[in-house]
This record gives sequence, structure tokens and C-alpha cells, in this order.
Amino acid sequence: MIAIGCDHAGIDLKPHVIAVLEEMGLPYQDFGTFTRESVDYPVYGELAARAVASGECDRGIVMCGTGVGIGIAANKVRGVRCAICSDCYSAKMSREHNDANMLALGARVVGSELAKMILRVWLTSQFDGERHARRVGQITTLDQGGTLKP
Ligand code: RB5
Repeated sequence: MIAIGCDHAGIDLKPHVIAVLEEMGLPYQDFGTFTRESVDYPVYGELAARAVASGECDRGIVMCGTGVGIGIAANKVRGVRCAICSDCYSAKMSREHNDANMLALGARVVGSELAKMILRVWLTSQFDGERHARRVGQITTLDQGGTLKP
């Protein structure tokens, strides 16, 4: 199950994201927003992020104007690693190296076709593990309030 969340600025990307999920046969849960009325992106970033962090959803896609605000908000939820991407290379690496469990896209930054390409790459790339697992483990330590030794 894929969680979807967006604000009013990200909403134009939503049908394109849904089209990719449907084309790939992936079920999704849409946490809103559902209209172009101005809303606060942290609210929808949190809804999608909590669904991922709780295990209710396997991964999450969030969208706002830049992807930055909603991505930062999602990353405040413990257990979430949200990659803010506007290119395919970063999207692929965010899965292979960072085991990103959420993707943030900016509707005012990327066009719909690029967004779909980024999403397909992100959804089909796998975590490489090994040395990257150690580093992701260190991110988890920080996420849980711990500190790292150099
Ligand atoms: C809304 O105007 C805009 O600030 C929001 O969508 C997002 O881009 C924030 O990071």
C-alpha cells in the first residue's frame, strides 16, 4: 500500500502519480488534500508519513509546490526517510543507498512526465544493503535521539 499526500500546490501532480501506481498495479491510500483550496503542507505530510511509519503503508509519495516543505515535514516523523527528488539519479540512489521509504515531488519544479519517470525509477529500485545498511542504521540512531561517533 502506498500513502499519498499533497497540499494545494502539489495536487496537480496527484493524477499523474496515481496513473503510475495504477499502471504498476500498486494499491494506494490518498490522505488528501482533495481540492485546490489553500492548506498547510505539514498536515498532509504528517498524515502520509504516519501511515508509513506505522506500517499501514509500505511507502509514501508526497507533493507540494517544491516538494521541500512536505518532505521536511514527513522527515520529522520517526522512521521516515523521505527523499526530495527532482531527477531520476537522486531518486534511484535514494532507494539504493538511503533506503528512502518516502518520495517528495515538487509540482512547481518538475513537469508531469519527469515526475512519472522519477516515480517509476524510485518504485522499482531496491536498497543495496551492506555498507549502506550501516549508514541507514546511523540515520535511525539520530532519528531515535542518539548520537554518532566520528
Ligand atoms: C505553497 O504555496 C508552498 O509553499 C508549498 O506548496 C511548498 O512548496 C512548500 O515547501
